[in-house]
Amino acid sequence: KKKIAVMTSGGDSPGMNAVVRAVVRMAIHVGCDPYCVYEGYEGLVQGGNFIRKMEWNDVRGYLSEGGTLIGTARCMAFYERPGRLTAAKNMILNGIDALIICGGDGSLTGADKFRAEWPSLLEELVSTGQLDAKQIEPYRHLNIVGLVGSIDNDLSGTDATIGAYSALARICEMVDYIEATASSHSRAFVIEVMGRHCGWLALMAGVATGADFIFIPEKPREDNWKEEMCQIIQKHRDWGKRKTIVIIAEGALDRHGSKITPDMVKDLLADKQGLALDTRITTLGHVQRGGTAVAYDRMLATLQGVEAVKAVLEATPETETCFIAITENQIVRKPLMSAVRETKQVAKAIEAQDFDQAMSLRDTEFSD
Ligand code: F6P
Repeated sequence: KKKIAVMTSGGDSPGMNAVVRAVVRMAIHVGCDPYCVYEGYEGLVQGGNFIRKMEWNDVRGYLSEGGTLIGTARCMAFYERPGRLTAAKNMILNGIDALIICGGDGSLTGADKFRAEWPSLLEELVSTGQLDAKQIEPYRHLNIVGLVGSIDNDLSGTDATIGAYSALARICEMVDYIEATASSHSRAFVIEVMGRHCGWLALMAGVATGADFIFIPEKPREDNWKEEMCQIIQKHRDWGKRKTIVIIAEGALDRHGSKITPDMVKDLLADKQGLALDTRITTLGHVQRGGTAVAYDRMLATLQGVEAVKAVLEATPETETCFIAITENQIVRKPLMSAVRETKQVAKAIEAQDFDQAMSLRDTEFSD
C-alpha cells in the first residue's frame, strides 16, 4: 500500500483543512494509507509523533474549520541542508512514498529545493551510515505535489490560491462594519489589508466595497498621488458621500519604491489646510486569515486535494514536479518550478521598480 502524506506549511489560510480532508479521504478511497505531517516542515524534521497515520473519521468536521488543524510553522531548520537531510530520513523511516504540501510560495519553493536535492540527500544518508542502501532503494524519486494555500493570491500560474476568497470576503465584511460608523460620524478611514508583496486583496476589496482610493504595490501612484487622492475624495464628498474609505495594501509603494504608510495617508486626509477629515486608521491584521472558509475555497480545496492524490499516483520518475492550479475554471496540473520562478520574478520586478514588468507578469500565464 502506498503511503501518501499531507502537510500544511507557512501562513495558514482558510481551506487548508478542506485540503487535508480531501487528501486523506481520497487516499483511502484509492487504497492508499494517508498520513499527516503535523506542524509543517518542522514536523518533517522532528519526525516521531509529528508524522501520523490518519483514518477516515480523523478528518470529520474539517471542511468548515478555519486555520489548519494539523498545525503549520515557518521552519528555520528546513532552510538549511542538515534540516532537509533529517526530513528525508524521517520520510524514509516512515515509509512515506509521496508528499502533498499545501502552502504559499515560500513553502513551495522549499518543496522544490527538497525535490532537487533529494538524490544527494539519499547519498549522504547512506554515506554517513544513517540508512543503508537497501532502505533507500524504494524511495529513489521524491514524489511531491504542491497545493497553493495563501490568502495573498500571489502565486503565478493559478487564478486563485486556496484562502484568498475567504480573506477577501472577511475584508469586505469588515469594511461594511467600518462604513456604518464612518458614515455616522462623516469620517474617513484608512484601512490596511494584508497581501505581503501582492495587491490582489486590496484591489479586489476596493472594487467590491466601492472604496474611494486604493494603494497597491504593483501599480504605484504617480508623483502627484496626494493631489489626485484629495481631488477624488473631495469630489465624492461634494456628491454627498458621508464616508471616505481608502484601502492600502501592506506592501504599498510609491513610484520610487518607498513605502506608503497608513499614517502618511491619514495625515493628508486630516490636514486642516486640505480636506480636514476626521480620520482613523484600521489595520485589519489576522482577522483576514482566520475564520471559516467561504464556499469557493472549500470547493477549490476539495477538488484540488483530489487532483493532488491522482497526480501523485500517476507520477513517474520522469514526471516534472507539479502543483495543482485553477485556470479558467479548470483544475489543472502545472510545473511547480515555473510558477515559483515567475512568482519570484514579480517580487524582483517590484523591488527594481519595474512596475510595468510586474503588472505584465501578474497578468501572464507561463507556458508549459
Ligand atoms: O502570506 C500570508 C500573510 O498573511 C501575508 O498577507 C502577511 O504579510 C503575512 O502572512 C503575515 O505573516 P505573520 O503571520 O507571520 O504575521
